[in-house]
Amino acid sequence: MRMPLWYGGDYNPEQWPEEVWAEDVALMRRAGVTLVTVGVFSWSRLEPAEGRYTFGWLDRVLDLLAGGGIGVDLAVPTASPPPWFSLAHPDALTVTRDGVRLTHGSRDTYCVSAPAYREASMRITRALAERYRDHRAPVMWHVHNEYGTPCHCDHAAAAFRAWLRRRYGGLDALNDAWTTAFWGQHYSDWAQITPPRATQYLPNPGQALDFRRFVSDEMLAHFTEQRDLLRELTPGVPVTTNYVLAGWACVDHWKWSREVDLVSVDDYPSGRGMAAAEQTAFTADLARSWAGGRPWLLMEQATGYVLGPRAAPKEPGEIARHSLQHVARGSQGAMFFQWRASRGGAEQWHPGMVPHAGPDSRVFREVCALGEALGRIPAPAGGSLDGPPVAEAEVAILWDEEAWWAVQGPGLPSAEIDYLAAAQQAHRVLWRQGVAVCFAHPSHDLPAYRAVLVPSLYLISDAAARNLAAYVEGGGTLVVSFFSGIADEHTRIRLGGYPGALREILGVRVEEFRPLAEPVELPELGPATVWSEVVHLEGAEAVARYPGGRPAVTRHRFGAGTAWYVSTRLDDSGYARVLAHAGPAGSGTPGVEVVRQRDRVFAINHTEDEQPVPVDGIDLITGRPVDGSLGPGGYVVVPAGAPESSVMYP
Ligand code: GLA
Repeated sequence: MRMPLWYGGDYNPEQWPEEVWAEDVALMRRAGVTLVTVGVFSWSRLEPAEGRYTFGWLDRVLDLLAGGGIGVDLAVPTASPPPWFSLAHPDALTVTRDGVRLTHGSRDTYCVSAPAYREASMRITRALAERYRDHRAPVMWHVHNEYGTPCHCDHAAAAFRAWLRRRYGGLDALNDAWTTAFWGQHYSDWAQITPPRATQYLPNPGQALDFRRFVSDEMLAHFTEQRDLLRELTPGVPVTTNYVLAGWACVDHWKWSREVDLVSVDDYPSGRGMAAAEQTAFTADLARSWAGGRPWLLMEQATGYVLGPRAAPKEPGEIARHSLQHVARGSQGAMFFQWRASRGGAEQWHPGMVPHAGPDSRVFREVCALGEALGRIPAPAGGSLDGPPVAEAEVAILWDEEAWWAVQGPGLPSAEIDYLAAAQQAHRVLWRQGVAVCFAHPSHDLPAYRAVLVPSLYLISDAAARNLAAYVEGGGTLVVSFFSGIADEHTRIRLGGYPGALREILGVRVEEFRPLAEPVELPELGPATVWSEVVHLEGAEAVARYPGGRPAVTRHRFGAGTAWYVSTRLDDSGYARVLAHAGPAGSGTPGVEVVRQRDRVFAINHTEDEQPVPVDGIDLITGRPVDGSLGPGGYVVVPAGAPESSVMYP
């Protein structure tokens, strides 16, 4: 039997007098809410003094929710240690790279390597699991929240050294990997090594990159400790943690996704209108790819504008359209931060499913309409946590957080090389054409894809480079963007010409980089900005040239396949033209998204005009027939006939 989709959001009842709780549950039922995340930031209300617990209020909340038929994603509140904890354990407060020890007063102010924090995390996790193991409300565990706090204190330093010892075995290997011969940084004792704290001038890029790897692994160790305890005490209840995305990638998502029972992501697009739809599709495709065919869930999004620089409002209809973009890509539902907009506190201006204006509001009416719509769409497969197998997209974009971190490292030849922007451009251009896209790690099996796009992948291991070579030799099409393949996994430059590891596949040798002060015009491809290279052909042919005649875009037959190189930054239409030459192009209408699952099709019109859609049948949401067109901002979900085009997710 198919389960309903999850629908709801973070519920923080401790912010409200108890009289409000019954109204909350009544409104949740009106809105079709099926799941709420409870207790993410409740540590100080659950354990007001060390080892003293006040679960009474949470008992009543869970009973109320269970009585209303609403499932609970019960949180382990370790993202916000109580003030008493920080005062008792000042050594567990975060230290910035400048050596400033932060004070409690916000959230996420802890050192994940501090023994006191680790012990306190285990204690509250055990207490919660023992208390609620037999309660009927919890259906899922939500460990922590958006892991992403690096610390530079002495605890972190000790843990970093231990991690480095495991990675390198001996100091000789570390000195070699970090090229400590430069600027006399040679280490003769492990005790000399610190996190990359503030220093006089450029820090060591190998050290900076390894620290980011370490931070990801150290936070993962914190997560897996809680997960293992929860699995032991509440076997069968899935454990997740919500990833933060956008420009803030503190963890290696491929690695983490092997450890969670359910991939869950938060999505706060920064753009407006079509840009927001493009960013939403990007995040959802990342989540789907990380989940690798397993279930995943949109854990947080907003009903409206969010704080600060991301203050993009949501226009009428966008709440539903963005949610459906995720569900179409296999999310087991659509969740928000948060249920009721707070009246005070740091995020009092973050929107809620119930806004400050109350239920008599456009937002709450849209929330109810979405709940009703989702109630008519069953979860993609077997059960709510038993998702569809991995999607077979036509095109893969390589995604690797390590390469991104390396590009964010110190001392690079341009501060304008932006890995995220390059990956988003590759995705956006194909999304507009209705081409099914997924993400892959450079070491993943690639043969199934019609084309593989490599956006500014500065760092690549030898093994991953061999993987790409095998893909092209076997008949694949590879499209590599500038500043790829240059560094090895220790951020050391590959010598003999760029793009180092990919030279042979691409049939080019780049002698030097020529960052551009001003845009130049490439015939047929339009403006080239930021970057250019002195490219020599070594087997490849030039497809487009810079003014003056040097090759700008090249093509190389390699084995049974073809490898393209784009040695500058093109705008979207220039990049789309290259892709059209290379192969991975589609014929979709920009802004009209058609996403096919195995047995149904989602069509979403993000434009302000009526649009034709290659879909007919009865809309599961309205029960009305779909006649091959969609009104402005409209969306439908219909049982699938034979797949004919666009995005296909089995
Ligand atoms: C994140 C957090 C939430 C909240 C929102 C606000 O997603 O997980 O707790 O802070 O951002 O944008």
